[in-house]
Amino acid sequence: MSSHVVVLMGGWSAEREVSLVSGRACADALEAEGYTVTRIDAGRDIACTLAALDPRPDVVFNALHGRWGEDGCIQGLLEVMGLPYTHSGPLASALAMNKDVAKHVFAGAGIPCAEGVVVTRAMLGRTAPLERPFVVKPNREGSSVGVRLVLRQDNDDRLLAEDFEHGDEVMVEAYVPGRELSVAVMGDRALAVTEIVTDEGFYDYRAKYAPGGSRHVVPAPIHAEAYQAALDHALSAHRALGCRGATRADFRYDDTAGEPGRLCLLEINTQPGMTPTSLVPEQASHHGMSFGTLVSWMVEHARCDA
Ligand SMILES: Nc1ncnc2c1ncn2[C@@H]1O[C@H](COP(=O)(O)OP(=O)(O)O)[C@@H](O)[C@H]1O
Ligand SMILES: [Mg+2]
Repeated sequence: MSSHVVVLMGGWSAEREVSLVSGRACADALEAEGYTVTRIDAGRDIACTLAALDPRPDVVFNALHGRWGEDGCIQGLLEVMGLPYTHSGPLASALAMNKDVAKHVFAGAGIPCAEGVVVTRAMLGRTAPLERPFVVKPNREGSSVGVRLVLRQDNDDRLLAEDFEHGDEVMVEAYVPGRELSVAVMGDRALAVTEIVTDEGFYDYRAKYAPGGSRHVVPAPIHAEAYQAALDHALSAHRALGCRGATRADFRYDDTAGEPGRLCLLEINTQPGMTPTSLVPEQASHHGMSFGTLVSWMVEHARCDA
């Protein structure tokens, strides 16, 4: 058993606050499971901080979200240092974080996705890249940061470009009406399908993280064929990107024209939220696995290829 575990959390991405919540919950659970835990709020000096640890950690538990922590950067650093870490490696992490590149890989694996193009922020104000309604989102962020719905009647493309603050690469994607589904994959198994129900109709940052902002229904009350297809697509997507450990696939499910409806994979999260009420722990719990057992499984499946 790995005894000394470093939990990396926080960091300096747009998802810092979410990561602190995930990291604290995982660190608490690992301590309760008997591991010796060192908590680190990652800064740009993280390589020096890790190298100075005595004793050297057996495993790094990566609870970072967003840029640097989820996009292959920290994974590459840990490979260089020869430290086993939880979740996916550098390539899978980088592919998953880039929505446009991931879309191409998913398409190659026969997984249905929404039509989408990447444009620069400046282009967003000048051309209509897709027919409305569409969704505008940063090509490389998470937690619904900067996601915006542009309706048929909206008339503010230039304003949109001006106050879109999340980088110069913008993913413009056909709006998929209907319902919101999520599937956790743990190793070689897709766990369950959760439906996320929001009152607001759009799953934004507030709906995701505010208490009572959304409700999770597991197993999702959807057509059996769609349920199985969501499990299959999540596992195929996890494998197509070469992911490791646990991931979470986000889908839209359009059953507005009747069942079994149409599934669209939005993305794979290689660093899914890890509080006890997050989607992955909830699905593990649906199978009788406690939060402590889940984080221990992650630690025992930590790897370093170097
Ligand atoms: N094409 C789309 N159609 C409808 N809703 C979307 C679409 N893209 C994103 N959304 C909404 O925005 C949320 C966040 O989008 P997602 O692609 O999962 O990015 P991230 O979670 O990385 O911010 C989704 O859960 C969904 O509610
Ligand atoms: Mg998402």
